[in-house]
Amino acid sequence: MTETDTPILNARHLLGIEALSVGEITGLLDLAEEYVKLGRAPQKKLALLKGRTVINLFFEPSTRTQSSFELAGKRLGADTMNMSVRTSSVSKGETLVDTATTLNAMRPDILIVRHQDSGAAELLSRKLDCSVVNAGDGCHEHPTQALLDALTIRRRLGRLDGLTVAICGDIAHSRVARSNIHLLTKMGATVRLIAPKTLLPADAASFGCEIFTDMNKGVADVDIVMMLRLQMERMAGAFVPSAREYFRFWGLDRKKLALAKPHAFVMHPGPMNRGVEIDSAVADDIEVSLIQEQVEMGVAIRMAVLDALSRGLSGGSA
Ligand code: NCD
Repeated sequence: MTETDTPILNARHLLGIEALSVGEITGLLDLAEEYVKLGRAPQKKLALLKGRTVINLFFEPSTRTQSSFELAGKRLGADTMNMSVRTSSVSKGETLVDTATTLNAMRPDILIVRHQDSGAAELLSRKLDCSVVNAGDGCHEHPTQALLDALTIRRRLGRLDGLTVAICGDIAHSRVARSNIHLLTKMGATVRLIAPKTLLPADAASFGCEIFTDMNKGVADVDIVMMLRLQMERMAGAFVPSAREYFRFWGLDRKKLALAKPHAFVMHPGPMNRGVEIDSAVADDIEVSLIQEQVEMGVAIRMAVLDALSRGLSGGSA
């Protein structure tokens, strides 16, 4: 991971999975494996990004993504700074571009951005000098989430190719779903989308996935059941009758999980709405739930992404 400067990513930014090749995805997953080992060692720190500045600019709340990017930067030796939007001038009306341009003047090397608008990361990548990483833009993409999900699956099942993965729930509002659909289909997995009609995107038929509105049919014989949070903050009006009703038809409990393959695993990007999209009995069962492992893989993937981007920074990699 340190002895080579071989580029893994062709671009200077990581804006989405859609533009990545199979080789770039595999390169990042392989590199992340090294960082899983490092994260489990007593001495977790490298000097790869020593002297580099990484800024986290989050316009939406985040627990896992923000903290793992911060930890990833620190473990690689970078100076990391978290920009909280509540205390910034954004609350005084400054625009996304103004805020980012101000930060850009402080000469960061990498800017990690999460924003409620689709396309926000791409817009900044055109305006700023530093590398930009998309940590979630509206309903569009969340590339590091799909990469960490793929790493988690590959480590447990040994491959992605030939697997069947069911993505269930609020697909319409989910950037996690979109990035996972791009990644899993590129890597040769079959993706099933399971949701009530109201939570399927209008263009779902063009995604190259199998579509189910009946969860019992959708989870039959799958290798992985990936649950999504009902994203109330992105819904104007009622998309589901009630949380209780939703859980009955689209919530994952032991009974529905029993229809999947005997050793099927359950995933969720977090944060979970327990009793709405997933039953605690399933979420907390370490025999089937990979949810905590996803969090661990999140740090490793973000280290791999920062490492890969640092190889293209001016002045060469550290
Ligand atoms: C996801 C997100 O923000 O898109 N969470 C995450 O990054 N772990 C999913 C969600 O908010 O439901």
